[in-house]
Amino acid sequence: MKPDAAENPRPLSHAERFARLDAHLAAYESLWRSSPHAWLSKGKPLPWEAGFAPLAEALRALPAARVQALHEDAQACRIFLRRHLPVLDELAALVALPDTDSALLPRQAHAAAHVGGRKLEQIRHFESALPTGFAHHAAPEKTAIIDWCAGKGHLARWLSARDGRAHLCLERDEALCTEGQRLAGALPLRFQALNVMDEAVRAPLRGSAAVLALHACGDLHTRLLRLAVEEGVTELALAPCCYNRTQERHYRPLSALAREHARLELDRDALRLPLLETVTATGYERRETQRRAVWRLAAQQWCQEVGIALPVESPHAARATDFPAYLRSVAPAVLARWAGQGKTREGERECERRERQGARRLSTLRALELPRAAFRRAIEVWLVLDMAVFLEEAGYDVQLMAFCPRTLTPRNILLHARRPACGAQASGR
Ligand SMILES: C[S@@+](CC[C@H](N)C(=O)[O-])C[C@H]1O[C@@H](n2cnc3c(N)ncnc32)[C@H](O)[C@@H]1O
Repeated sequence: MKPDAAENPRPLSHAERFARLDAHLAAYESLWRSSPHAWLSKGKPLPWEAGFAPLAEALRALPAARVQALHEDAQACRIFLRRHLPVLDELAALVALPDTDSALLPRQAHAAAHVGGRKLEQIRHFESALPTGFAHHAAPEKTAIIDWCAGKGHLARWLSARDGRAHLCLERDEALCTEGQRLAGALPLRFQALNVMDEAVRAPLRGSAAVLALHACGDLHTRLLRLAVEEGVTELALAPCCYNRTQERHYRPLSALAREHARLELDRDALRLPLLETVTATGYERRETQRRAVWRLAAQQWCQEVGIALPVESPHAARATDFPAYLRSVAPAVLARWAGQGKTREGERECERRERQGARRLSTLRALELPRAAFRRAIEVWLVLDMAVFLEEAGYDVQLMAFCPRTLTPRNILLHARRPACGAQASGR
């Protein structure tokens, strides 16, 4: 092998990346499958702790602030964990996707009105990441682009304001269609109130040049992929999300490769894993969520000790501003009997002690979640690679990229696929 070939090895194909990810995810399944919450609330160690004792020990010894910092910084988390899990370095390479370095396209006041700030930025990045000539092969009599599960059609409206072409929004919710049509004003945008799971969706697909889907959930994006192949859609760009929103009990692989060789079987809990990331929450939201999680764990433990089940939270509990108030609304019997409503000094002290205990429990739980978090993106990329290989098996050229920073949305993977015959240019802007 020539020296430069060793330094610049051939990039792996999507199928090769899929196979390697599949093998690693299967080998370390126990680490990401088991929910720390489920095991700790039974008072048991997680099933993997015996097999990875030094890792479990290191995690359980982490102070709460460090646990939080590692949850907020994926790179630091990998560096911490790789002493015990060297596989994470290879996983990081397998899940890496090219960023789109294209300059952001100009703002458009008309099309941007009525779109939330974060959604608007996602749309600008999404458009910017589309290859030059996207859908330009459209015959004039054809719909240029279909916006799949369009909501109010913010993305299609944005595109139509830039290129002046006729785009079609497919959306099940009639109220969203009506509102979207109103927002479009004089732009040549059309809405069709249609359930994309119905057979009627095939006709517009056949009559369009390209399909876009920004954050179409679970069954809605797999439906698009299957129909795109069946109906010969020439080009599509999809940013998938909510992989767990499916009628299937287990993920049904799309590609022949995955159907025949994949070791992983993902149920809905596993499909939800990539979504358990809150990079878009504000500091305040995160602190509030944490405070309430402490109260819930403290109450749970207290209830367990006295042998009563902790009921589902009422809206009243959601409004509580301190632990005794929370406890009063979820488990008044516990509070009345063991802490005198939390109003005596002794009761207050018991509540404080219990709250501290809840905080320690939360910290342990969050620490034991770190290995799981380190495998989350790998599961998502495994799913998207299955989509890419499926389209390649049907003759498409497929590219995967990260269309925006994860702080804007963690669902930032863009799959672009085109049938080679359609003649659009492949290069980015
Ligand atoms: C997550 S939103 C994304 C909306 C839009 N693409 C965006 O990024 O703003 C998903 C949309 O899919 C629509 N939807 C859900 N099920 C659908 C179905 N079976 N057929 C058509 N649209 C559907 C919902 O009403 C919602 O507007």
